[in-house]
Amino acid sequence: MRKRAFAVGLCLVMVGLVAGVVYAQFAKTEDAIKYRQSVMSVTGTHFSWMGAVVRGEQAFTQEAFLKNADLVNALIKLPWEAFLMPGSDKGSKMKPEALAQRDKFMELAKANQAEVAKLAAAAKAGDFNAIRPQFGTAGASCKACHDLYRIK
Ligand code: HEC
Repeated sequence: MRKRAFAVGLCLVMVGLVAGVVYAQFAKTEDAIKYRQSVMSVTGTHFSWMGAVVRGEQAFTQEAFLKNADLVNALIKLPWEAFLMPGSDKGSKMKPEALAQRDKFMELAKANQAEVAKLAAAAKAGDFNAIRPQFGTAGASCKACHDLYRIK
């Protein structure tokens, strides 16, 4: 009896530890929402600056493009824990399905990070003819998630 109570207690402590590690940064769902919306907003700004170059509205210089690509590549690694905080769909533009289908959501997040990393590599190599299609591919993988899990 005491052994069993001990085992149950130990399990609860371990669950608490894991949950504590994952969500320690965010005391409230509002904090997680604010964080991820901020990251996404800055990411979107740097992404759209590259878009203007790809569409020919801004001149291409490797230095400026690489700076934006490197920033997006760093930023896009940040927000995912904040997306997965339970209850954080409420009061945001994230659909509840994102939390219900977190494996699928994280698959799309990982795919997007891989395409953004390829874009940064192309920007580093500096060939605009390779950069342009990769920008399109990366953008499509942002959109793939928005289409499924973001409220328009
Ligand atoms: C795996 C899913 C996913 C991927 C990948 C993703 N997003 Fe998002 N994005 C979301 C969701 C969900 C929201 C709504 C968040 C909220 O309201 O809390 C969002 C919100 C945004 C916003 C609005 C932020 C604001 O001001 O509130 C921008 C801009 C944005 N994303 C840009 C991007 C860009 C650019 C990429 C690709 C480089 C990208 N996203 C990749 C899921 C994703």
